[in-house]
Amino acid sequence: MRQLDIFSLVGRVAIVAGGGGGIGSSLAEALAGAGAKVAVAGRTRESCEATLERVRAAGSEGLAITADMTSEADCERMVQETLEQFGRIDILVNAVGGGAGKALHAAERYPRSDWDWIMELNVRSTVLPTQAVVRTMIEQGRDGRILNISSVRASLGINAGYSAYVAAKGAINSLTRQWATEWARYGIRVNAIMPTFVDTPQVAMLLEDPAFKAGIVGRIPLGRVGETRDIVGPAIFLCSDAASFVTGQVLGIDGGLTATQ
Ligand SMILES: NC(=O)c1ccc[n+]([C@@H]2O[C@H](COP(=O)([O-])OP(=O)(O)OC[C@H]3O[C@@H](n4cnc5c(N)ncnc54)[C@H](OP(=O)(O)O)[C@@H]3O)[C@@H](O)[C@H]2O)c1
Repeated sequence: MRQLDIFSLVGRVAIVAGGGGGIGSSLAEALAGAGAKVAVAGRTRESCEATLERVRAAGSEGLAITADMTSEADCERMVQETLEQFGRIDILVNAVGGGAGKALHAAERYPRSDWDWIMELNVRSTVLPTQAVVRTMIEQGRDGRILNISSVRASLGINAGYSAYVAAKGAINSLTRQWATEWARYGIRVNAIMPTFVDTPQVAMLLEDPAFKAGIVGRIPLGRVGETRDIVGPAIFLCSDAASFVTGQVLGIDGGLTATQ
């Protein structure tokens, strides 16, 4: 065995929830490039199918599943469709979330409607697919790997009306540790990555403001925001045998931002 084989995902089956998105589509392509078969799930068929093309171009097989990760029935159907096609599930990447830039309010007047929306988009959309997939992983009786996408906002306040988002990502970090603790007995590892701003369509509007972008970049020691390619290596590592003794961890991908606080 070559040393780099510990990073290989050949023979593994992954689901990327939110696989049509900026980060999710890059991760789906990367998992495929590392050898995994990839089910791409999201609410919009076109974006999932576009990612499926990237999976195929990376040399693997895949499946596009139109499903809402805030629906228990859809999450269950996503699991069944993946099992019918590929026979097993080894990896779940939870890449649904965000919304922060569209729900900015003073903390003392944060409206319940946006609070509930952000919690639904970030927390419920992570909990439901994870529950459905982990029930299958437990039945399979093999190891499994869950990767959550958190944000540096779980650890850092920002003076820009982010109350609900920081609370949601804090919950993701806590659940990462809780699930790792509960499911270690089944050989299921649960980790999270915690990026700072990553240049995706979702944050393009915020980053278009030169003053906002300069403020962000000025606090990042490596002097730039993230790119989706920055997420790929850490994600492959955490989903592979290279991280066989790593669970319950939240890895910052932030150009050194959290190190400065
Ligand atoms: N971009 C950043 O700067 C950044 C930084 C730190 C952390 N993050 C986190 O990284 C994750 C991905 O962010 P991103 O920038 O890639 O966002 P994105 O491009 O908006 O991707 C999110 C994807 O999730 C899908 N989605 C939303 N609600 C869904 C639901 N209920 N069921 C199924 N799919 C749903 C969306 O597609 P449909 O609407 O078509 O379903 C979209 O494809 C989020 O958790 C975000 O908080 C992002």
